[in-house]
Amino acid sequence: KRVGVLISGSGTNLQALIDSTRDPTKHSAAEIVLVISNKPTAYGLERAKKAGIPALVISHKDYNSREAYDTILHEKLVQANVDIICLAGFMRILSGEFTQKWTGRMINIHPSLLPLFKGANAWQQALNSGVRVTGCSVHFVEEDVDAGAIIVQETVPIKPDDTEESLLERIHTVEHKAYPLALELVASGRAKLNEDKKVVLC
Ligand code: GRF
Repeated sequence: KRVGVLISGSGTNLQALIDSTRDPTKHSAAEIVLVISNKPTAYGLERAKKAGIPALVISHKDYNSREAYDTILHEKLVQANVDIICLAGFMRILSGEFTQKWTGRMINIHPSLLPLFKGANAWQQALNSGVRVTGCSVHFVEEDVDAGAIIVQETVPIKPDDTEESLLERIHTVEHKAYPLALELVASGRAKLNEDKKVVLC
């Protein structure tokens, strides 16, 4: 399956996806064919370049509505024959129209055990709440932010002396395993979204 990855930042998850899909021992069903960033300064663009993957900057500042932005995004993905979209630190909310076009074919990673701690700074919310376990979730994308059926979750402990930085680092480590696993499940057809918007694993 042809995969497009949308980013806004450092792209460590993008890197994990590049490495896993190119690992010859894994015979991945996925190939990353396009990276799009809404920010020209995103370090993930360098990662794409180093890996020889076509990368585009489509800045939201050049479009005066969410719909106009999402339309061009959709066009570029279709032009590249993308089958599956991975959101990997893409810091923009996508319109309902866009989301519906990619239902069952777009996945996201979030740094908490959903449905807990949706939205920004999820690891900080977990730390402040006093829970002793958190983690990350990879899920199919629905119109509501950080909603959608969960494909893979990984847990991490929260230690008494954790800071935001130490906790985020621990979450990132498990994200880099969970995202490649989830993409592989979707690309190989072993994880699917059914009509009731539930994940079927086979
Ligand atoms: C990750 O923590 C992911 O869960 C969140 O954005 C972050 C992206 O990090 N959605 P990176 O750009 O992949 O390093």
